Amino acid sequence: MTTHTPGLRESATFDRDVIHEIQRAAETGIYDIRGWGAKRKLPHFDDLLFLGASMSRYPLEGYRERCDTDVVLGDRHAKYPLHLDIPITIAGMSFGALSGRAKEALGRGASEVGTSTTTGDGGMTTEERGQSKHLVYQYLPSRYGMNPDDLRKADAIEIVLGQGAKPGGGGMLLGQKITDRVAGMRTLPVGVDQRSACRHPDWTGPDDLAIKIIELREITGWEKPIYVKVGATRTYYDVKLAVKAGADVIVVDGMQGGTAATQDVFIEHVGIPTLAAIPQAAQALQELGVHRTPGGVQLVVSGGIRSGADVAKAMALGADAVAIGTAALIALGDNHPRFQQQYEALGSAAGFYDDFQAGLDPAGITTQDPELQKNLDPVDGGRRLANYLRVLTMEAQTLARACGKSHLRNLEPQDLVALTVEASAMAQVPLAGTNWIPGRI
Ligand SMILES: Cc1cc2nc3c(=O)[nH]c(=O)nc-3n(C[C@H](O)[C@H](O)[C@H](O)COP(=O)(O)O)c2cc1C
Repeated sequence: MTTHTPGLRESATFDRDVIHEIQRAAETGIYDIRGWGAKRKLPHFDDLLFLGASMSRYPLEGYRERCDTDVVLGDRHAKYPLHLDIPITIAGMSFGALSGRAKEALGRGASEVGTSTTTGDGGMTTEERGQSKHLVYQYLPSRYGMNPDDLRKADAIEIVLGQGAKPGGGGMLLGQKITDRVAGMRTLPVGVDQRSACRHPDWTGPDDLAIKIIELREITGWEKPIYVKVGATRTYYDVKLAVKAGADVIVVDGMQGGTAATQDVFIEHVGIPTLAAIPQAAQALQELGVHRTPGGVQLVVSGGIRSGADVAKAMALGADAVAIGTAALIALGDNHPRFQQQYEALGSAAGFYDDFQAGLDPAGITTQDPELQKNLDPVDGGRRLANYLRVLTMEAQTLARACGKSHLRNLEPQDLVALTVEASAMAQVPLAGTNWIPGRI
């Protein structure tokens, strides 16, 4: 539907959104902070298609032949690697950004289907430890909520070097979300805006990181897998360096990845798309001989994963597992039409609400307000998340069987083609109907 009069030409450079933003900036003098991930159109999984089996390859029968989904994460050095039933994990999201009930619901949903959840900036809550069968504990530059006892309570440790939404930048938690409980866990004053550090104070490069990883292994008895999470930028080199530093698992978060609060200019203009990052990461691991080998280094990919097709495509490109943030929140009830009136009162609408920083979320998820939190029932939220994770898994299995694969991990780049030259170049799979991959002879 066009809303302008025929004959009036909208500028492609100065379109209505650009004009609105200039006017907003001129009015307020402050930059825009918001949650969610990049909203611009980027080459993504939708630009890839599977080549189902027919004559040259043999498909598997959906109702009779198995397609397994389990994955082991962290069997390089850890005494107790994580054994997950499905390769779809819940990404790290901070308590403070999320309510305690949301953390509990994530734990319930993930545990029901045998996968892991992850803490976030601000530490470990009793709700999520209590409800999570497999809990990954984030060790972040801010060290907010960092506690050696909680490290020992975790099932794995994730050292966060960056996030796809803001590689090179730190986190933000605005004062309205810093309640007594959040402030207590972070050792911060109540109600004052907080910025997390953009880099770890304990090391300046991979050699120091190797020492930190050994330190973390020592205080946890060499039991727990150590992940290293990077925002997707110079992914090939970052992955090689993280492996050299001793990581058991690498998490690569593409620029579509969600955030709780960051400058819009950061979300939209820094990093590379998830699609472009996966082949780089996989290549780095292959060259080091640790890709999809027993005792190797597993690759977890996040940033814009929405469907079983996205899961299967990420795995075909080389991921061992994926992590989801935004989609998990939507499954819990974020942006649900039943809150339409409340979203409108906030100047937004169901499907558009991204003001996670404001603490006014009617769905009770990205808020610390005790009244709003009541809108999320953690048991119901957990059930919804478990349903969603089951659907993702079944969709991925359906596609894998069609490609003749008896395990999701057997998906490979040869199962994919690209719809656009850009996606072909980034994903390093041929343009559909050709043998051509840009940049390869
Ligand atoms: C509300 C929210 C809070 C987040 N908090 C953290 C955090 O504390 N630490 C972190 O490493 N990433 C954090 N992230 C990023 C996620 O871990 C993950 O990288 C990202 O959400 C994946 O992209 P997706 O949202 O498109 O699935 C957060 C994301 C959201 C949406």
